[in-house]
Amino acid sequence: MSETVPTLSFDEVVDRLLQRKEPYQRNYRAMYSSWYGGIITDPALMMVPIDDHLVHRGDGIFEALKGVDWRVYALERHLDRMEYSAKMSSHSLPLSRAELTETILATVRAGNLADCSIRIFLSRGPGGFSASPYECPESQLYIVVTTLQTPSPEKYARGVSLRTSAIPVKNDYFATIKSCNYLPNVLMRKEAEDAGVDFTVSIDEQGFLAEGPTENIGIITLNREFLVPRFDRILRGTTVSRAMELAESLLDAGDLVRMGEMDLTPEDAYHAAEMMMFGTSFDVLPVVNYDGHRIGDGQPGFFARKFRELLREDMHRCDEMITPVRGA
Ligand SMILES: Cc1ncc(COP(=O)(O)O)c(C=O)c1O
Repeated sequence: MSETVPTLSFDEVVDRLLQRKEPYQRNYRAMYSSWYGGIITDPALMMVPIDDHLVHRGDGIFEALKGVDWRVYALERHLDRMEYSAKMSSHSLPLSRAELTETILATVRAGNLADCSIRIFLSRGPGGFSASPYECPESQLYIVVTTLQTPSPEKYARGVSLRTSAIPVKNDYFATIKSCNYLPNVLMRKEAEDAGVDFTVSIDEQGFLAEGPTENIGIITLNREFLVPRFDRILRGTTVSRAMELAESLLDAGDLVRMGEMDLTPEDAYHAAEMMMFGTSFDVLPVVNYDGHRIGDGQPGFFARKFRELLREDMHRCDEMITPVRGA
């Protein structure tokens, strides 16, 4: 008995789309699509054309940032990184910085959440199904605002566990670009969940620590140095970069004696006083176990707490790091 596959009319597709409600879509609050030429709030319509090379070639770049208390945090820093990713992958932003900012803020306003997650995708655009970017007449911009997913308070209070990843690392050039080719990152995330740890961390060809699937790492040595893997080998995280700027105050106070980028081995981390993860959605998480080694005294330490405190203060201070969503 063979089932027939229906050929659907335009109206039938629209009907089916509008009936299609999935529980996870409740988190999707607004989407801007340059393809539609506006903002939509019905998750059923939040789609990308299949002939957009973003879909079938991963030919796009993206940014993930957050809104905190009706303000967008570190927008300029994310847009700087996006410009870098665009340059390195021969994409060009279709809007000026001011227009892009206004489009992002309009989408965040439509999302109507005090705290939210904001994802910006710049794609090569629709145009056919070959690998050639030249068949796409126009790049497209998609912005999606969703609820912000954060770890449970227990993860901050008790710390997280980490394991070395077996997934091959991206080479330098591609690791520094936030492109839509995230297969290694996806496999790392799966690896962590399958192994029952919070994160895995990649190791480069020379045996040096790289990064988590979508997080940076850092250690505090027994000599009170704050060290992170070299940024020419990994994605330059906005969170860890800002934490390093804010940590200047800890150097001035004598809490830290040195800070910088370095080639770090897993051994360096096993013997660290503290280890931590940095990322937009959660800020800073203390690592208390790495590859079965207890880190420090096995409890979240002073610096993980302090870095998070500094970042949270930064998010609520009115300076250039913050772009108001309302009344701008
Ligand atoms: C590969 C990778 N490393 C690090 C990070 C952390 O960057 P940020 O602090 O800007 O979120 C991300 C963020 O998504 C990432 O994708």
